[in-house]
Amino acid sequence: MQAILHVNNLKTYYYAGNRVVPAVDGVSFTLSRGEVLGIVGESGCGKSTVARSVTGLFDRSYTRIEGGEVLFDGMDLTRQSAKTLNRIRGKKISMIFQNPLTSLNPVYTVADQITEVLLLHEGMNRRQARERALELLTMVGIPEPKARLDDFPHQLSGGMQQRVLIAIALACNPQLVIADEPTTALDVTIQAQILRLMDNIRTQFDMGMLLITHNMGVVAEMCDRVLVMYGGVVVEEADPLQLFDAPLHPYTRGLLAAIPSIEAQKETLYTIPGTVPRFSHPVTCCRFADRCPHCAGHCRTQEPPLFRTGDGRGVRCWNYLSEKEEPSQ
Ligand SMILES: Nc1ncnc2c1ncn2[C@@H]1O[C@H](COP(=O)(O)OP(=O)(O)O)[C@@H](O)[C@H]1O
Ligand SMILES: [Mg+2]
Repeated sequence: MQAILHVNNLKTYYYAGNRVVPAVDGVSFTLSRGEVLGIVGESGCGKSTVARSVTGLFDRSYTRIEGGEVLFDGMDLTRQSAKTLNRIRGKKISMIFQNPLTSLNPVYTVADQITEVLLLHEGMNRRQARERALELLTMVGIPEPKARLDDFPHQLSGGMQQRVLIAIALACNPQLVIADEPTTALDVTIQAQILRLMDNIRTQFDMGMLLITHNMGVVAEMCDRVLVMYGGVVVEEADPLQLFDAPLHPYTRGLLAAIPSIEAQKETLYTIPGTVPRFSHPVTCCRFADRCPHCAGHCRTQEPPLFRTGDGRGVRCWNYLSEKEEPSQ
């Protein structure tokens, strides 16, 4: 598979007054064409900050990329000007966000918003762009697409709004789509339809997709590989089958145990004890230590690296090392 995005040791910090928030603190991954890479984790673990860092969509007055690189199309995106990033966004990299209504501009029609990217990036004239917009609406499964072209966003349901956003995201045949919680704001039945649509699109176009979600069900359904994030770092990397079958990190085990199931309905639903702590910089312990049932002394004094297992997985836990050294029965 051809790799299209390399993120190496990315560090993105927020500066809030005299506090430094190490929201993304050394994240690395590679994404290939045709691949869906999931990033999963609780709210606040840094998922959206990864997305914003890759696309350069952050406020430079309080956000800084403190280290690492984002290699795409022969350049390091962390070093590009706002102008270059503007040219890349929408054309080669496009984004789908959580809340379709706030992502669409309420005062422009559906046609205006799709044709805008085509006029800007593809050099089409208005008539060509409108024809292409109609094609795109048809492709994303909007009924009576011709009539919908002149609708305003509020005239569409949430599911249809998200389809329009997907149409905009695909307008210029991007190499990379970043979807940040694309179905979280939608009803469950609509979620399934949108996921199916995104899966079809991924096979139809040979693009890479970074799919950010807090929902393990979405991971199971959509992803080829998955990164589990906690406290700004990747604590586990695996393919979904491995992850669901034999999670290695205590945090991943907790996330999986917290999924409601019909059989478990009579029992109390598992929750991971404690809350996500706020880390001050620099971090000198395992970030999961306070909530971990297996926490040992050195977990509080030294942060574990991401250990690579023989089968292409990764786990950031000291216990992985000790289990390997003293295999348990
Ligand atoms: N503008 C900001 N100023 C300070 N801290 C922020 C800001 N935006 C996000 N954060 C913090 O950064 C961390 C990661 O946030 P985010 O990337 O949005 O997480 P996620 O998408 O996984 O929910 C959180 O602890 C959040 O509180
Ligand atoms: Mg988020």
